[in-house]
Amino acid sequence: MTSKADAAGKGTVTVTLDGTNRSTTLPLLSGTLGPAVVDIRKLYGDLGIFTYDPGYGATASCESTITYIDGDAGVLLYRGYPIEQLAERSDYIEVAYLLMYGELPTARQLEEFRRGVTYHTMLHEQLRRFFDGFRRDAHPMAVMCGVVGAMAAFYHDNLDINDPRQREIAAFRLIAKVPTIAAWAYKYSIGQPFMYPRNDLSYAENFLYMLNAVPAEPWVNNPILSRAMDRILVLHADHEQNASTSTVRLAGSTGANPFACIAAGIAALWGPAHGGANEAVLKMLAEIGRPENIPAFINGVKDKNSHTKLMGFGHRVYKNFDPRAKIMKETCHEVLAELGIKDEPLLDIAMELERIALSDEYFISRKLYPNVDFYSGIILKAMGIPTQMFTVLFAVARTVGWVSQWKELIEDPSQRIGRPRQIYRGPAQRDYVPLDVRG
Ligand code: SDX
Repeated sequence: MTSKADAAGKGTVTVTLDGTNRSTTLPLLSGTLGPAVVDIRKLYGDLGIFTYDPGYGATASCESTITYIDGDAGVLLYRGYPIEQLAERSDYIEVAYLLMYGELPTARQLEEFRRGVTYHTMLHEQLRRFFDGFRRDAHPMAVMCGVVGAMAAFYHDNLDINDPRQREIAAFRLIAKVPTIAAWAYKYSIGQPFMYPRNDLSYAENFLYMLNAVPAEPWVNNPILSRAMDRILVLHADHEQNASTSTVRLAGSTGANPFACIAAGIAALWGPAHGGANEAVLKMLAEIGRPENIPAFINGVKDKNSHTKLMGFGHRVYKNFDPRAKIMKETCHEVLAELGIKDEPLLDIAMELERIALSDEYFISRKLYPNVDFYSGIILKAMGIPTQMFTVLFAVARTVGWVSQWKELIEDPSQRIGRPRQIYRGPAQRDYVPLDVRG
């Protein structure tokens, strides 16, 4: 394979089958930022061959204008704006508008969007009954998959995904109702009454209210915690074509109902290699127990037979620091200090684990750095959020990213149903053997 690319990354790639005179020339495409891509759509037609990329580590599945990651430089941009600036100066509702519509809103646009979300936070009263079908000790992510998927039973009939207004209403319903569903999943698990959303609170305040308030007494917002929650939601809002977003896109490419697509994204996020890592980090830190146990744990991670991973470390794209991890670490120290928590053993273990790992050749050579999940669990624990709710919170935050990516997919005129191919390694064709002669 040879390529001719000019400085702008435009040009062609020529693929020649060795030992034959068969070759084809494929166009190189380049975006605003990031590596050029070779457009292989005519490869099979010209040469009768597929490409092979398990895990899609080197494959662009779509064109997108939403989020850009430079894994080597540790850069994360939402619609071009650096995550550091948004985490410091924006808030979740404004970031949600930015992800959905591509530009920072004017004051009037922001107020209209905020109202639109606020007035969709209530759930249909019949949806309450879905919770009764779950065991009280069900993992809240199982409840999230079930109830968000069940939204399709309430809105499927009048949803034309090709109608922009109906797509927008579905988007508002999902962004607004997922925190209510999440909080009710928690309340159901502890046997407390559901708290209905309040229109006088911000998105993050309302989520904390529905999680923590009880009818028996007034609830007082802690601005430190609601600001920290808002920042955590911003940091988790979108992240390019990660596993759960790709799941949403694949489901969306079939024309499935957006509620079903987001439920599929929630299911994919649940895995410990993805959004379930924040819960797994807390379990890992608790199992290590004391800083003096870290060297033995690290040795276990290096032992392939142990199948032990350093949870909260490593990333398919970031081969440098995850910029979100840096902000999360700063927020962690702020929240603990502002809550007057001076002695948090898990934080001591996490910081010592990070220090050792970042100086150990095994991790350095594999470019394993803390990712967004390494510190988030410690903050959430300090905020009184139970461990099983950590991934649920990730799903709440990522819903706007999933919805924005789903909208972009539906509005992309070139989009077609996703249908990867394979290398077949099964038996060649053979004839049926009747049972009585099989021996
Ligand atoms: C998220 O994609 C996204 O953007 C996801 C996300 C988002 O916002 O949507 O950023 C959110 O999912 C963050 C990642 C959370 N997951 C974890 O913290 C779980 C622990 N991390 C690993 O499971 C792993 O790092 C992945 C899944 C995150 C990435 O895996 P890759 O890219 O497939 O890396 P790999 O398995 O090819 O690893 C390369 C090497 C291997 O060693 P060798 O076979 O070369 O000897 O690094 C090793 C791996 O064994 N390795 C680890 C490790 N991660 C990779 N070894 C120990 N601990 C780890 N955490």
